[in-house]
Amino acid sequence: MSKKIFIKTFGCQMNEYDSNRIFDTVKEIGFVKTNNIEDANCYLLNTCHIRDKSKEKVYHEIGRVKKNFRLKTKPLVIVAGCVAQAENEEMLKREPYIDLVVGPQSYHEINDKIEDYLKEKKRLDVTEFDAISKFNYLEKIKNSSQKISSFLTIQEGCDKFCHFCVVPYTRGPEYSRPFGKIIDEAKILADNGVKEITLLGQNVNAYKNENYRLSDLIFEIEKIQQILRIRYTTSHPSDMTYDLIETYGKSKKLMPLVHLPVQSGSNKVLKLMNRKHIIEDYFKIYHELKKINSSIKFSSDFIIGYPGENENDFNDTLNLIKEIKFINSYSFIYSPRPGTVASKLELIDRKISLNRLKTIQKELFYQQTEMNKSLENNIINVLVENRTEESTKFFGRSEYMTPVILNANDEDVGKIVKVKINKSNQNTLFGEIIKNTKLKVA
Ligand code: SAH
Ligand code: SF4
Ligand code: F3S
Repeated sequence: MSKKIFIKTFGCQMNEYDSNRIFDTVKEIGFVKTNNIEDANCYLLNTCHIRDKSKEKVYHEIGRVKKNFRLKTKPLVIVAGCVAQAENEEMLKREPYIDLVVGPQSYHEINDKIEDYLKEKKRLDVTEFDAISKFNYLEKIKNSSQKISSFLTIQEGCDKFCHFCVVPYTRGPEYSRPFGKIIDEAKILADNGVKEITLLGQNVNAYKNENYRLSDLIFEIEKIQQILRIRYTTSHPSDMTYDLIETYGKSKKLMPLVHLPVQSGSNKVLKLMNRKHIIEDYFKIYHELKKINSSIKFSSDFIIGYPGENENDFNDTLNLIKEIKFINSYSFIYSPRPGTVASKLELIDRKISLNRLKTIQKELFYQQTEMNKSLENNIINVLVENRTEESTKFFGRSEYMTPVILNANDEDVGKIVKVKINKSNQNTLFGEIIKNTKLKVA
């Protein structure tokens, strides 16, 4: 029997990386990937628990699979990721259609558990925290990513326990992978044709292995000739150490976009959130980075309507946004997460939160649109990634991660080209390649 797996991924980049590594793993026991759910005899849902009705979304999704397979042989159904970790055996009890529940620190066990299930039909929950075994195992399995831009997890878990956040409970304590193993994986990616690496961690700038820090990793990966661009996400303001800030002045491949979640512009709210940084720290980092390289730009995450946020606190957030001029940001209304400290706090009026969200999104989207507009008629560097779905145009990204749709040729894929921007909207730039030009890049 051919074994075909269909993988659906929700959530952050770490989940995307994990889904790819899960596929590299199940390949070892004969699975091939299918993009057509109807063909699959194994359905894996990699879940996210960060906001909203994440649990219900999972049951809803499984319900759809059930319907899809009503007249066919039931596929093996696996729920992985952060909801799996949070809910564990509850999922098996509530939904008999689910066969295996596998937490993010247990992917190294997935092949054994699948094989056991196929032999004995034993439904199982595998959700212990064991980052060391997981990475030791995954290191033996070659990362098969052949995309132009690829993720590489260097750190996982979080010890910070912000009062709103479920990540320390779903991803476990902070763990940094050994320096040498990360460099080996980066080299494999480079050999596969990868040109851009985004280093991942829930607290990526807290990376620490022996005396190696994130800055050391960046300099070492920079030595790999085929790698043209390096990024990292997501960082925490209190781990923005000076060696990392200085890296922006020395590295030739580290991109000038700093994604640094601030959550709120009010020190009172930051304290209530247990963020362990104040706004003055954030500005200090901002000014130090700008001094080193004035072309650096910022993006951030915001939580609106956190319990205790009043109109003044909200205005502090709005003023911070106006001052820093973030070029791209994520903003959401606070969503209580089971088991977190803030889940017991009284919520503020939903209508007020919605209005505040609308106000800051208007400002954020305006800044984003203006930034894109300012690039019209300028020439920028774009790393070409692939053909677009309609296949007449190509897709690439600017140094600041902005998607660029351009006219190009297949031989431009994987190269950094100079692109003249003709048009823009809030999210995307449109342009054409300029060859043999001495014109200055914006
Ligand atoms: N480690 C990163 C963030 C990881 S979670 C940091 O410290 O900033 C990604 C984003 O989800 C957070 O930055 C936050 O803005 C958002 N988020 C997390 N928990 C949330 C909640 N309960 N409600 C709304 N947004 C939340
Ligand atoms: Fe969550 Fe980030 Fe806070 Fe950790 S530092 S608890 S991942 S928001
Ligand atoms: Fe979601 Fe887990 Fe990532 S909760 S944001 S998938 S770490």
